[in-house]
Amino acid sequence: MHHDMIQDLAEVLITEEAIAHRVRELGAEISRDYCGKELVLAGVLRGALFFLADLARAISIPLAIDFISISSYGPTTKASGVVGIRKDLDESIGGRDLLVIEDIVDTGLTLSYLLKIFRVRQPSSLQVCTFLDRKVRRIIDLPLAYRGFEIPEKFVVGYGLDYDQRYRNLPCIGILKPEVMGR
Ligand code: IMP
Ligand code: MG
Repeated sequence: MHHDMIQDLAEVLITEEAIAHRVRELGAEISRDYCGKELVLAGVLRGALFFLADLARAISIPLAIDFISISSYGPTTKASGVVGIRKDLDESIGGRDLLVIEDIVDTGLTLSYLLKIFRVRQPSSLQVCTFLDRKVRRIIDLPLAYRGFEIPEKFVVGYGLDYDQRYRNLPCIGILKPEVMGR
C-alpha cells in the first residue's frame, strides 16, 4: 500500500500504529477535561483534516465540529506568513469552549494569528491541540494544551501534511528524501 509515496521517504518518523495510540490518549484526556462543557473543535484546513477526524471519534463527550481555512503565501516548505481568512468558522463561538485543532505548530505565526481572531469572539475558553510540535523553530511562544508528538527540525509529510499538495493521504508521518523536495 502507498508504495510510491513510501519510496519518497528517507525515514518513517511516526508509524500509523503510534499515531492511533496517541490519538486515543489525547481523546481520553480531552473527554475528561471538557466534561460538562460546550466543546467546539475548530480544525485548520487542510492539514488537520485526518487528525480532527480521528481525534473527534476518540472523544466520548458531545462536541461540534467546524473548520477554518487561512491563506498564506508560498506553496512549499517555508510558508508561514498568514495573509487572511479564506473560509471562516460557520459556528458562533461566543460562550463556548473552543479547541483549535492544528496539524503542526512550527514558528507559531499561523497559530498566533488564529488565536488573535478567535479571542475577540469571546469563547468561554480557548485552547490548542496540535498533532505535531516542532518546538525548535518557535518564534512566538504559545501555550499548547495538547500535543501529539514533538518532532525535530526536518520537514515532514503524511497524516494530512503535504508537500506541494501531495502525501496528505500517507497514513504515517515521514521525512521526505531531499531529492524529492527539489523535484
Ligand atoms: P507556522 O505558522 O510556522 O507555525 O507553520 C504552520 C503551518 O506551516 C502548518 O499548519 C503547516 O501547514 C505548515 N508546515 C509547517 N511545517 C510543515 C511540515 O514539516 N510539513 C508540512 N507542512 C508544514
Ligand atoms: Mg496548517
